[in-house]
Amino acid sequence: MAHLEELEVKGKRVFLRCDLNVPLKDGVIKDDGRIRASLPTIQYLLDQGASLVIAAHLGRPKGEAKSELSLAPVAVRLGELLGMPIKFATAVTGPEVTAAANSLIPGEILLLENIRFSAAETSKEESERAVLASELAKLAHAYVGDGFGAVHRKHASVYDLPKLLPNAAGYLVSAEVEVLKKLTQNPDRPYGVVLGGAKVSDKIGVIANLLEKVNVIAIGGGMLFTFLAAQGKEIGTSLVEVDLIPTVKELLERAKANGVELLLPTDILVAPAFAADSPATLVSADAIPADQMGLDIGPETAAAFAKAITGCKTVFWNGPMGVFEFAAFSGGTKEVASALTKVAGLCVVGGGDSAAAVRALGFADSDFGYISTGGGASLEYLEGKELPGLVALGI
Ligand code: 3PG
Repeated sequence: MAHLEELEVKGKRVFLRCDLNVPLKDGVIKDDGRIRASLPTIQYLLDQGASLVIAAHLGRPKGEAKSELSLAPVAVRLGELLGMPIKFATAVTGPEVTAAANSLIPGEILLLENIRFSAAETSKEESERAVLASELAKLAHAYVGDGFGAVHRKHASVYDLPKLLPNAAGYLVSAEVEVLKKLTQNPDRPYGVVLGGAKVSDKIGVIANLLEKVNVIAIGGGMLFTFLAAQGKEIGTSLVEVDLIPTVKELLERAKANGVELLLPTDILVAPAFAADSPATLVSADAIPADQMGLDIGPETAAAFAKAITGCKTVFWNGPMGVFEFAAFSGGTKEVASALTKVAGLCVVGGGDSAAAVRALGFADSDFGYISTGGGASLEYLEGKELPGLVALGI
């Protein structure tokens, strides 16, 4: 892997792939964490006398230009944070983009429109991605990969393009990989993992892999109900992935066989509907009413998870414990986040959603050991998978 400082960038145009996939509502950025996390590399390259063509994605537009997924608001925020104007290309490729890139002078930035507006970016066909990658390669003399949140994607600007230009990893990617290495190579014990979020299907791989490595796993979020269902419990109208119940049963068996303490909720906050003002009732995890859905872990569970977490020397957390966006169902996530701030050791918050959750709940980034910008990317790293965007950079 080439280090950023080894890449010749003075007076050159550098193609910088960032992850600027921020939560947006009505054109307003709800959490600019990923933009801020991209600043050190951008600033370094500008200070070195480079000009930058920055590419990033927003959401999943599936190859179509969708105005609500335009990066235009991100260009404005990036300009505010850097204190300089940012040029914005309303397309990904084409003569106007080429002209705009060619006219950049050292210290200037051109942000391309959402790279996923081009269907070739995410194409499964290598030949289609190759066409886009070769067009993008003409825009710059060198490539820097700093979009950690997207390194698990075999996409043109992440995987194919770096192979065509002298390249290096940016500071964010290097920092993320360093932290994930600490989690995978000989972590201090006890090592605990807290997983939440809606879907078990997103987490099966990582749970299976972690069952060989961790001492404690606590399960919250929408995915917990598939676990309760696997134990034969009534889960009412809660989220469930019925087809995964047999796999979850196997995971429960393996946890027992491996001596991993797998913590499941003992109490649940339920409501009749998925709504902020739906009246909440606290019930035992063994007694969820058939006509209600679980929207958060209960206080007894949150206290048990908090106790387990604070007893660990290494902790990784991904996924909220409940529907934290609704105040009445944010208590579990808040209590778990608060316990994470007290870990005497390495504590990593993984994922754009989890990072946005802790900030929305009033915590500061500095309250945690490390807040990763990559959800899927950090999970796939922990799963032991090869990440295309890292492979392409020689990591
Ligand atoms: C993320 O939000 O995790 C990254 O930006 C990757 O987005 P994706 O899951 O749409 O590829």
